[in-house]
Amino acid sequence: MMIKTKDLLKDAQKKGYAVPAFNIYNLVTIQAVMETAEELRSPVILAATPGSLKFIGSDYLLALAKFTADKFSIPMTIHLDHFTDVELLKSCIKMGFRSVMIDASALPFSQNVAVVREVVEYGRNFGVSVEAELGCLPGREEGTRIQGQEVLTNPQEVPDFLNQTGVDSLAVAIGTVHGPYKAEPKLDYERLKAIREMTDVPLVLHGVSGLPSESVSLAIKLGICKINVATELKMAFSDTVKEYFAQNPAGSDPRKYLQAAKDAMKKVVAAKIQMCGSARRA
Ligand code: 13P
Repeated sequence: MMIKTKDLLKDAQKKGYAVPAFNIYNLVTIQAVMETAEELRSPVILAATPGSLKFIGSDYLLALAKFTADKFSIPMTIHLDHFTDVELLKSCIKMGFRSVMIDASALPFSQNVAVVREVVEYGRNFGVSVEAELGCLPGREEGTRIQGQEVLTNPQEVPDFLNQTGVDSLAVAIGTVHGPYKAEPKLDYERLKAIREMTDVPLVLHGVSGLPSESVSLAIKLGICKINVATELKMAFSDTVKEYFAQNPAGSDPRKYLQAAKDAMKKVVAAKIQMCGSARRA
């Protein structure tokens, strides 16, 4: 059942859990997420980056998402993740996508506001839920910022950013990184607390792969309503395919190695759902 992201996140905020957003890449990865979420009765967000949109095809992706929403009874959305190109986003919205992240976080504050506001205003006519980022996470593919204190979200800037943009959710930089952690992750919980004190807008945590469950639980207690997971899914999937071929060098049937990869991915999805406290919320 397709639900507005805004409503999914408000329910999570009210009840004190987080909705997991899993990056997907094709039919098999969509099935891995949806089947697991349905089994555990968890609301869920399927997330696609610009690279995935290009890889899958926007028409295929939208059709798959709509079909999936009808097939499964749990609340879900298809969300466009880390889009930086406003014109591309507008064309996706026109096509039928209703949940987007416009990521202008590498730009200075006023430019970030201007870009985000353009998407919010455009999306308003279509009932689109818009996420933006204030502060900037390191480790992204398209970003230029480097890790450092100065790119963490400044709580003092939060009210102005939200008032000026009108976004429905806010991704915060509190020490997480995209991709694998090279050192032990250290989250700035005091900063998160200070941000939450500034607003009721649902907060989003990116870069959750590799974070200990206790860190995520605490972040959820302090106000995170959506968590994003990509790297751990990709690793489970590709490690299993590698292992399959190591054990079956003559193997060639995609149904066999894709089934094994899907099963491995489902285990990660299940663990993240438990970590979010989103099981049995659907
Ligand atoms: P990870 O790849 O670190 O899980 O981050 C995912 C993410 O934040 C997608 O927006």
